[in-house]
Amino acid sequence: MNKIEFSESLRTIRMSPIISISEQVRKRAPDFQKETGKKFILFQRGEIDFPTPRYIVDAAKKALDDGYTKYPKSGGEDPLKDAILEKLRTYNKVEGLTRENIICTYGSQEALELSFKLFEGKKGAGFAPCWSCILENFVPYCKIDFTEVPLQADFSVDYAKLEQTLKGVAFFYLNSPHNPTGKLFTEEEVRRIVDLCRRCGVYIISDEAYERIVYDGRSHFSPLSIDDPLILGAYTFSKTYAMTGWRLGYLVTRNPDIAKLARLGDYTQTAGVVTFLQHAGAEALRNRQEEEKALTLMVAEFQKRRDALYNGLRQIGGIQVEKPEGAFYLFPNFTKLMPSNLDAEKRKHYVYDRLMEKGIASVYGSAFGKYFDDNVRLSFSTTPLADITEAIERMKQVFA
Ligand SMILES: Cc1ncc(COP(=O)(O)O)c(C=O)c1O
Repeated sequence: MNKIEFSESLRTIRMSPIISISEQVRKRAPDFQKETGKKFILFQRGEIDFPTPRYIVDAAKKALDDGYTKYPKSGGEDPLKDAILEKLRTYNKVEGLTRENIICTYGSQEALELSFKLFEGKKGAGFAPCWSCILENFVPYCKIDFTEVPLQADFSVDYAKLEQTLKGVAFFYLNSPHNPTGKLFTEEEVRRIVDLCRRCGVYIISDEAYERIVYDGRSHFSPLSIDDPLILGAYTFSKTYAMTGWRLGYLVTRNPDIAKLARLGDYTQTAGVVTFLQHAGAEALRNRQEEEKALTLMVAEFQKRRDALYNGLRQIGGIQVEKPEGAFYLFPNFTKLMPSNLDAEKRKHYVYDRLMEKGIASVYGSAFGKYFDDNVRLSFSTTPLADITEAIERMKQVFA
């Protein structure tokens, strides 16, 4: 048989380390339970343990009964686009858009993939730490030469470094609220970053997956509220409405050329998002009363978990930890608690391994780029309060 080298971009994609960590947990958990009588505590995934709100599930059933079972309109169904436009106006303060500025996608994953595809073979940048999927999937898939701009230890921005990098790239990936740190970039920070990008003629891919998961009464500032065709926004239903399995998202751009290309890309890849799901998505956005009820409940619970985990980690001397203002992750640093003689490779998994031995699943910092090997990501989106308390006790046994 003729030996063919299949697509380089597909061959160079790497599987998310988070999936292999979950595999490892599945294998280890039974033995751990047998030996200790205790269960594994899971902090590794970005899944959500709340159900999709009833009103959205009902809307999907109704859309099926109403016969929305045929091919969707290219780029997205009108009722969904209209609901998105209204949401963008009222929540994101994004004015002056029409249906033409929106492309409905399979999760923000597809919106981001289309955005990265626009810059295939070019240079791009984003802050480190950086969501692993960008580094493992989109960057190799779209053959991007990607520069990581490290945030400082307290996750503040080094603007001099940023400006230097922006001079040589086509786009900047900005994610706020941020995975894996839980940082919510302030309006001032976003404006300054956007300003620098505009001065350098750099496009901005704004990943706002966690836009509604914010704490302590804070609010998220959307770069897209700044009227500039350089800015693309990637949005999702996954986190706001606990709809991770529905795969519903959208891309927003003021640039007509980008909108046209994204629509072509979306059509080529999928020919559009499942029609009846789009109609349920429209209802998710339109029913503000039900939305508010479900979201308030979920965010209040996440905030309790954040507080428990943050306060618990602070009790263990030597851990440097920032309080997340959004999303559902903490990204503590363990440098002070690590043996000084570890070689670079061992260092990458040291904390992760110690936690694993105690039946705690985390994600090692090196999954999020090259600057944060001494950190781990702890996701509290599926971890009940009692498990968080137990995890802190176990961590004290290792590190206190
Ligand atoms: C920062 C960030 N962006 C985008 C996504 C993609 O989510 P979805 O494809 O479900 O919309 C995720 C998922 O975890 C994420 O963490």
